[in-house]
Amino acid sequence: MANDDKQVTWGGRFSDRPDLLMQIFGESVSFDKRLAPYDLKGSLGHASMLAHVGLLTEAEFFEIKSGIEELIEEIKAPEFSWKLELEDVHMNLEQALLEKTEVAEKLHTGRSRNDQVATDMRLFFKDACAQMRMTLEGTMLTILTLAKRYSGLPIPGYTHLQRAQPVTVGHHLLAHVEALGRDHERFSRVSEHANVCPLGSGAIAGSTLPLDREFTAKALGFVDENGDPLITPNGMDAVADRDVFLEFSMACVTCSLHLSRLAEDVILWNSTEFGFINLPDSFTTGSSLMPQKKNPDCFELIRGKTGRIVGNLQNLCVTLKGLPLTYNRDLQEDKPPVFDSFDQLTTCLTVVAGSLSGSSFNEEKCREAASDPLLLATDLADYLVEKGVAFRSAHHFIGELVALSEKQNIPLPELGQTEAIEICPALGESWRDVFDLDRAFRMRERPGMPGPSQIKNRIAHWENVLGS
Ligand code: ARG
Repeated sequence: MANDDKQVTWGGRFSDRPDLLMQIFGESVSFDKRLAPYDLKGSLGHASMLAHVGLLTEAEFFEIKSGIEELIEEIKAPEFSWKLELEDVHMNLEQALLEKTEVAEKLHTGRSRNDQVATDMRLFFKDACAQMRMTLEGTMLTILTLAKRYSGLPIPGYTHLQRAQPVTVGHHLLAHVEALGRDHERFSRVSEHANVCPLGSGAIAGSTLPLDREFTAKALGFVDENGDPLITPNGMDAVADRDVFLEFSMACVTCSLHLSRLAEDVILWNSTEFGFINLPDSFTTGSSLMPQKKNPDCFELIRGKTGRIVGNLQNLCVTLKGLPLTYNRDLQEDKPPVFDSFDQLTTCLTVVAGSLSGSSFNEEKCREAASDPLLLATDLADYLVEKGVAFRSAHHFIGELVALSEKQNIPLPELGQTEAIEICPALGESWRDVFDLDRAFRMRERPGMPGPSQIKNRIAHWENVLGS
């Protein structure tokens, strides 16, 4: 069968091999070889279906099966020889199987590389989502541990990067856990969407052979919760559709944006100006010139990698835009961006976990910043509301008090009683009680607020979800 002068797979119609430049330009094996385990799995499922419908004898099937099983082991070795002239992972593996048994000539019956690669990628995405969820769990657990350790430590919460209201480190870190929790769920939805089998679609229009698509789907684990097979309903869509690529990339974008915002919080907290957090030496770097520097490079890189992950989504969108149905070779370019997003995000999540697990909060600095009485100006307005003042008027009165304290350069709670009452008679005697952080937190004991039992409950919730 192998004809040295022709391209092995489609050589029949051609009198010349592809030019070396075309081979180099057109190959994808350098990056799609990572699909090899999925490709072999897909081939095994396809072969078992061919046997089931009588297109392979039992003996032929077992010969192919044992060849595939050998290959599953052989491809793990770095010395496995991937041949550029065989273009992609599919043709490399088919050729490797042919070298073991001539029966492999029958393997591609009723199959095209179009439905083959679509299947490989769906198997990849199901695995990638499961792995990403596990990695996310590790990162969430690390942040949760830190949130628990410093659950009651007050810090200012910021809007517009201006001190806004007091929160606790627990409340702030749990905000990041919530965001990552949504990512965790998002990857599970992407995995559900990947869970449909395109095999049997052929190039676009299936096959005249008596393929049993449900059988293949079951063999490859494309089943619903009742074990019923899930198959793509339109052959043209099946080979042209790259929605799961987009969804996976977008899920990576969302998660990396979450990490990037967390990174920015940490970078600010780590600056001398804030001084809230101490990062471990092992995840920071020094300056080649300034001996005093200890830079939060890992968090800066997380921000940087996020740009790259966003770019990968953009890359895919632009590749897909304007492509006519169905398969076009442009689609070969769909894999590097999703592999890259997967690899980069996995590393980012692991780095966040590694660096935060070695971090500690500077309690003194945090308390000092949180003791700014202006953080409780809103609580003072609420106090007036409790006394019957309409919120808009209360807001106005407190605004005047703040202006006065700024003018006199006296902290808000230390303003003279007479002057204060002059601005707002409803203040009464006990308005200074508001400037007690413990009170401020105690009074925030409804869902979503930073009250101590709220934080405790939410930590317990996530510990339960993460099984810790
Ligand atoms: N290496 C190809 C890709 O990744 C496989 C599909 C090739 N199909 C084709 N009709 N040339 O897109």
